[in-house]
Amino acid sequence: MSERIDPALPKAELHLHLEGAAPPAFIRGLSKEKNIDIAKIFDENGGYKFRDFVHFLDVYEAACTTLQTPEDFRRLTLAVLEDRARDGVIYAETFVSPDFCGGGDLVAWREYLHAIHDAALEAERTMGITLRGIITPIRHFGPEKARPIALCAAETVGDFITGFGIAGDENQYHPRDFTWAFDCAREAGLRLTAHAGEWGGAQSVSDALDHLKVERIGHGVQSIDDPALVDRLAENRITLEVCPGSNVTLGVYPSLAKHPIDRLRNREVIVTISTDDPPFFHTTLVKEYEDLAQTFGWTEDDFRAINADAMRAAFCDDATRQQKLKIIEGRA
Ligand code: ADE
Ligand code: ZN
Repeated sequence: MSERIDPALPKAELHLHLEGAAPPAFIRGLSKEKNIDIAKIFDENGGYKFRDFVHFLDVYEAACTTLQTPEDFRRLTLAVLEDRARDGVIYAETFVSPDFCGGGDLVAWREYLHAIHDAALEAERTMGITLRGIITPIRHFGPEKARPIALCAAETVGDFITGFGIAGDENQYHPRDFTWAFDCAREAGLRLTAHAGEWGGAQSVSDALDHLKVERIGHGVQSIDDPALVDRLAENRITLEVCPGSNVTLGVYPSLAKHPIDRLRNREVIVTISTDDPPFFHTTLVKEYEDLAQTFGWTEDDFRAINADAMRAAFCDDATRQQKLKIIEGRA
């Protein structure tokens, strides 16, 4: 029998795409308001519908076409943070892609960012949840598009925008194609992460570490296939932002029992738990914890330790880190 995990357990979530967390009813509502025909991205129950990872990215981009104004992003951010707060999340980081808000134009981007940040501050006041933003170019849009995004990031780094990453189709382009963007972001003081080892195999993780010099890896689960890389991750305290439900739904692994998160943890790799794009994968952070407890026998103490690790790897200032750690460790 697995231990029951209190759904209100204080949580930190490091890997969440803002647009990917949009409830389907919210996107459908926007599509009606704006007369955009995206009926084909929904199934008969009103959920998102996709066949595989590449189709998922298409559906995702179609949903994003309904997000057209700063006000849309303000409403989206509030809706997403309400869902997180309901799951006990006290600290979250979200990927924001200027490709989907402002298209890399710095003036437009500042307006979107202002709306997202405003909503985050409102949620902090009313729900006690803290949000930080990670600016994220889309890998399959190519390195030329990543450059203006890196400049948007460098110009707006601050209390809210604290990180830079890359998402999208890992099988297109190579990490070395994005070194300019990552160097620019690093020089501006941003902390770095990259999606790797979700689809691309262990080599993709090594390449992200070597070429982009990131301190965290989005997913990174395929590292398990290279024992030397597993040692490297553990020794260098590279934190993996693992999204088990996303990996199983998209078919990276056939079941949670076959997922390597438990084996990685046993090899002393720092793993954290996130939902990625929760409505797409019919998941919540509470469900992820329940599933992990059932499958691997993880206890509340395990989850407390994982959340403390997540806060230690969070892209935030030290005062925020200490304040959240106190809550997670039951000292507040
Ligand atoms: N963008 C949104 N979700 C993603 C994922 N799981 N992998 C790569 N890019 C993404
Ligand atoms: Zn992701």
